[in-house]
Amino acid sequence: MIEYRDVSKIYGEDNFALLEVNIAINPGEFVSIVGQSGTGKSTLLKLLTLEERSSEGRVIFNRVDLGEITKKELPYHRRRIGVIFQDFRLLPKRTAFENVAFALEVAGKSNREIRRSVAQILEIVGLSEKFRAYPAELSGGEQQRVAIARALVHHPEILIADEPTGNLDVINTQEIIDLLLKINELGTTIMLATHDKETVNRISKRVIVMDEGRVIRDQVRGRYMI
Ligand SMILES: Nc1ncnc2c1ncn2[C@@H]1O[C@H](COP(=O)(O)OP(=O)(O)O)[C@@H](O)[C@H]1O
Ligand SMILES: [Mg+2]
Repeated sequence: MIEYRDVSKIYGEDNFALLEVNIAINPGEFVSIVGQSGTGKSTLLKLLTLEERSSEGRVIFNRVDLGEITKKELPYHRRRIGVIFQDFRLLPKRTAFENVAFALEVAGKSNREIRRSVAQILEIVGLSEKFRAYPAELSGGEQQRVAIARALVHHPEILIADEPTGNLDVINTQEIIDLLLKINELGTTIMLATHDKETVNRISKRVIVMDEGRVIRDQVRGRYMI
């Protein structure tokens, strides 16, 4: 369960990125956050990963007030949340396998465990055949699949996707969205930020529309019409 309670975020003196936002998200939901550029979508997601802290109000994740999470607890908090971005952010000198394995190495898992987990997760994202490829040898869609695999490797309760299809063509976009829907079917909560109308309308799940830092619409099964 994720809750934003009267959350505002002000950057600097007077840049109001979020204004009195109230949202509750249940486990297993697929929520699309839409709105034009600069309306606060990324900021909303960053409050959950604690890349940013709220200026007012509270963000609550599984009954924990994120305002109370200390620096020391951050790595553990972040393992419970998978994140993917528009620009993939893969390590260029590591193969697909190694990019996914890296997160498990950092967490101190054994080699055997790592091989098993990575193979399993690459299978889910449909990349078993390409485990030896370097990012530069993969298409944009395939690179995003590696990033998704890496995000899922700690079995997070939630996957956050910030404009994940922004660098992809129509076909790759559909494939990535279908993969996100599949991951959601397998039980992971998804929060997707996008300004792509077609994508959101095709997903046909909950839509939260943002405008200038405010939630202006929150629909269970919405279409994005602005
Ligand atoms: N680190 C930052 N410092 C100052 N202003 C920021 C920062 N990040 C975002 N903003 C501002 O906050 C507002 C919302 O930005 P953002 O959350 O990135 O929106 P979106 O993801 O919808 O494009 C914008 O006006 C943006 O310029
Ligand atoms: Mg953004």
